[in-house]
Amino acid sequence: MKSQTATLFKRIFQYSRPYLWRIGGALCASLVVGATDVASAKLVQPLVDRVLQPQDRSLIPLVPFFIVGLFVLKGGAKFLQEYYIKTSGALVVQDIRNSLYSHSLGLSLGYINKNTAGNFMSRILNDVGQMQRSAADMLVDGARESIALIGLTALAFYNDWQLAIAAFLVLPLSFLPASYVGRRIKKNSRGGQQVLAELTAILQETFSGMKVIKSFGTEDLEREKFVNRNRNFYHFLRKVIKYDSLSAPVIEILASFGIAAVFWFGIYRVIDGRITLGELFSFGAAVLMMYAPLRRLIKINNTLQTVVSAAERVFEILDQKADIVDRPGAVDIGRCRGEVAFRDVTFSYGDNSVLKNFSIEASPGEIVALVGPSGAGKTTAAALLSRFFDVSDGQICIDGHDIRALTLASLRKNIAMVDQDTFLFNDTVTNNIRYGRPDATLEEVKRAAEAAYADQFILELPNGYEEMIGDRGVRLSGGQRQRLCIARALLMDAPIMILDEATSALDTESEKVVQKALHNLMLNRTTFVIAHRLSTVQSAHKIVVLEDGLIKEQGTHQELLHNRGLYHKLYEIQFMRQDDSQTVGPDTL
Ligand SMILES: Nc1ncnc2c1ncn2[C@@H]1O[C@H](COP(=O)(O)OP(=O)(O)OP(=O)(O)O)[C@@H](O)[C@H]1O
Ligand SMILES: [Mg+2]
Repeated sequence: MKSQTATLFKRIFQYSRPYLWRIGGALCASLVVGATDVASAKLVQPLVDRVLQPQDRSLIPLVPFFIVGLFVLKGGAKFLQEYYIKTSGALVVQDIRNSLYSHSLGLSLGYINKNTAGNFMSRILNDVGQMQRSAADMLVDGARESIALIGLTALAFYNDWQLAIAAFLVLPLSFLPASYVGRRIKKNSRGGQQVLAELTAILQETFSGMKVIKSFGTEDLEREKFVNRNRNFYHFLRKVIKYDSLSAPVIEILASFGIAAVFWFGIYRVIDGRITLGELFSFGAAVLMMYAPLRRLIKINNTLQTVVSAAERVFEILDQKADIVDRPGAVDIGRCRGEVAFRDVTFSYGDNSVLKNFSIEASPGEIVALVGPSGAGKTTAAALLSRFFDVSDGQICIDGHDIRALTLASLRKNIAMVDQDTFLFNDTVTNNIRYGRPDATLEEVKRAAEAAYADQFILELPNGYEEMIGDRGVRLSGGQRQRLCIARALLMDAPIMILDEATSALDTESEKVVQKALHNLMLNRTTFVIAHRLSTVQSAHKIVVLEDGLIKEQGTHQELLHNRGLYHKLYEIQFMRQDDSQTVGPDTL
């Protein structure tokens, strides 16, 4: 347990490295602060013995100078200490946040999907924020208080060692409550951070799913969910506050024993003439002042425990190995020809086996359609080609190279994708279209939009191509969003294209138009089309029919109809439905 905390701190210190001079500056300043505490206790003695008792008037004017001088020195040093340490803490937190964000971007989709977005957000914002009072901060505070503590203890022993022993007899006892309190704080703080992550997840879900909540009228249910979690958060917070507030009074009560001992013995010793009155006062001041740094050290330990609990959660993510990364010696494929081969690919999500001995080949420029019932594994096959997941067995090759031997960047540059999830960024139309090629000219953006038949509605927007879309901008229809996504993929001009239900949000009329556009664009690309509407895939060079992860049959539209197998059955169903209802396109397969 102890060594774990030590490792954690070592890691936080790694982040403090670039700011060592700031931390060093703060440390020096904190030593000055600690020293002024000791000095003020020490100066009580000459004040009493040389000024007060001999009633030496000539020295009295010096007293205010000493007092103000000491406070000015302490104030200046304290400012420097605070400023340097707080800024280095903020810088360290900024760095940790950056690396947490970059690391999260590198994690595989498999891991990201297992966690809620709220969980990631909470760790990057809340947990890292909790680490604001970084280890360096504690170090400097701790150093200052320790210096004061050691100095004052030494002063007490120097003044009268026998009295000092009486005063400090109870000191070791304070470690017991301190360590107990620390442990409780850590446990409850971790619990609190976990609940905070749940709260963030609820918030994230609420605001992105507001339409569903409102349409189902489940506001009360959601409110209750939130209120419950929020109460739960308070529950943990209350415990942290309780233990944190408890530590100071406990220490003070313990301190009272020490102070009582000092005055009890001390007064006898002054009467016996063993020490001067000044020495007793100086001694008393040292003991009184000494318990303040002790109390603060224990507070620091309490804060430390909350930092540890947050740091654990932060490092859990940082320690998550990105499992889909460039292999050593991975090659940049450049622009590929577009020959794709799945060879005996087997894949499962955990225990859920999805694809079995899946083999297909596509020559450059060929259109391959994947059809089959929902859950057959079509989207999964496409995801494997982009290496969102790695195959469990077999291999996928592009131009004869196993895709795992290519750099991820070059692989993904060669594949453009349009899927059902029409995700657009809060940005202008232009920037959304040129997302995959930030250097594209406005002319190219427009051409892509025209080819995707998006041009017309874009021009009707108040600001045309410069219109903001997404949460902060105009709202687009599902079909319009899909056409922007198609334009975005077209502009990427990749030799391989994946269209996963790319036209599902379009009405029959627009679909026909976009089909034409897609068709022209498919000419020089290897394209994988996944579609429920079989009308979309009829012109494919090859249609692969999947069921339960197995290839049932493959061939051209005519061949498959002729075979009278699964494809024929699916086609029949759609064909009949289309006869039944003229208006609604059947995408129920
Ligand atoms: N990220 C995931 N983690 C675990 N299981 C998954 C994941 N994605 C899909 N699955 C499972 O894998 C199987 C195949 O899913 P996939 O999305 O490939 O089907 P599909 O053929 O594209 O279906 P649809 O036509 O409905 O889009 C399903 O049983 C699904 O439950
Ligand atoms: Mg799918």
